[in-house]
Amino acid sequence: MTRARITIDRDFTIGEVPRRLFGSFVEHMGRCVYTGIYEPGHATADQRGFRTDVLDLVRELGPTVVRYPGGNFVSGYRWEDGVGPRADRPVRMDGAWHTLESNAFGLHEFADWAREAGVEVMEAINLGTRGVEEARSLVEYANHPGGTHWSDLRRRNGAEDPFGIKLWCLGNELDGPWQIGHKTAHEYGRLAQETAKAMKLVDPSIELVAVGSSNRDMPTFGAWEHTVLTHAYDEVDYISMHAYYQEHDGDVRSFLAEAVDMDGFIDDVIATVDAVRAAGRHRRRVDISFDEWNVWYQHGLDTEDQPHRVADAPWRAHPRLIEDTYSVTDAVVVGTFLHSLLRHGDRVKIANQAQLVNVIAPIRTEEDGPAWRQATFWPFARMARMARGRIMRTAVSSTKVATRRFGDVDEIDVAATWDDDDGRLALFIANRSLESDAEVELDLHGLRATAVRSAEVLTVPSGGDRRTANTLESPDAVGLRPIHGVTLDGGAVRLTLPALSWSALEFDVSPT
Ligand code: AHR
Repeated sequence: MTRARITIDRDFTIGEVPRRLFGSFVEHMGRCVYTGIYEPGHATADQRGFRTDVLDLVRELGPTVVRYPGGNFVSGYRWEDGVGPRADRPVRMDGAWHTLESNAFGLHEFADWAREAGVEVMEAINLGTRGVEEARSLVEYANHPGGTHWSDLRRRNGAEDPFGIKLWCLGNELDGPWQIGHKTAHEYGRLAQETAKAMKLVDPSIELVAVGSSNRDMPTFGAWEHTVLTHAYDEVDYISMHAYYQEHDGDVRSFLAEAVDMDGFIDDVIATVDAVRAAGRHRRRVDISFDEWNVWYQHGLDTEDQPHRVADAPWRAHPRLIEDTYSVTDAVVVGTFLHSLLRHGDRVKIANQAQLVNVIAPIRTEEDGPAWRQATFWPFARMARMARGRIMRTAVSSTKVATRRFGDVDEIDVAATWDDDDGRLALFIANRSLESDAEVELDLHGLRATAVRSAEVLTVPSGGDRRTANTLESPDAVGLRPIHGVTLDGGAVRLTLPALSWSALEFDVSPT
């Protein structure tokens, strides 16, 4: 049996929950847009071609902000191709994903879709093949009320009111040799600085994200952030982080502990950002936008939907690309990534799970067919809804598991929030043990739990195993079920959680 004690003290908090932590990502890649969120002719499509079955699932998932239109795609994208009468929009060759892009869906469609979905738009600009001029034109088009060239074009194209986009990414993964328009840190840092300046001259209220390293293993990681911020610190508000994880060579124990890597990666980026702040005598703090994260089985698979093979395929419109099917194990890991992001909510202010539909996504669809929730849908949906108020520090004393990559790691991984206004404590717990149930005791200081509002767990379903997943044939194999037997004893809480599980609990609490 795994045992753990979680201690939470009313006065030990990390900060307010940044609601943009529960972001997602829609790229013109594979079937995320076409036959994902947009499919005119689908039985559920509205008059604009938006799949309402997908919109319903997106609202249930609850992302707060959605990054668009890429990803690698944006580094060769001309935003002007996607506005104006559809009949006049050109078909282009998207080199990033070797795909024919019809441009039937563009900025206006995404802004309308985002309004329907109830999410904020986070717009990425092309700093691969384009630069300052195109970026400032786009801000003018999107955000200026009218009376100028680009804002009047937007009005003629049917949007009288500006889109009012606050959050902008200054390109994507430009440290990566695979990126169209790959740059050195020095080249990118100068370009980001000048582009940011020009964009803010058009609309000073916008917030800007500079490109950080594509992952922690990039040879330039650390030096890239340092150089870019040395140039652009005063002009930008956030630096980006990207990370994808997968199980390697059957080492499931290390995979289940990958949040240790995410914690360390975030700490490294904070240290680098703050070193630039100190050296440059800057007062303002630059925070983190973790704008691509997820489980992605990209290594070891030699299937034609993986990036290293796409260039061999013929030019096609919206091919199936990286439509990973997620298991119970993946869902538990995704839960721990959300814990890690929340634990760093004092500096990670934006985070986007990549991506939203079909492409390594919590929602899957079939063309002309149904839409369903992957196993990874559940931790995101519960945390996006329940993580409110203050992020609490959690002290965890837990049975350890030995891992090849991270040494001894706590079997139990936790995050918690306390909503003072609503008198509600939310607790999120992963049991990473593959074999043992966990007896968990929650020790509250300065707070007293008076009732259990809800208690749900995601684990291996009966008759299944750790690889069980939701599929077209079996869309509800993995889900949440109630946890029974949660006891409140003089304010202390006790519960038992199954092996390999992720749980979400809510308690009524009052200060003592
Ligand atoms: O999300 C899939 C791809 O992963 C994105 O296009 C790119 O930014 C990253 O490498």
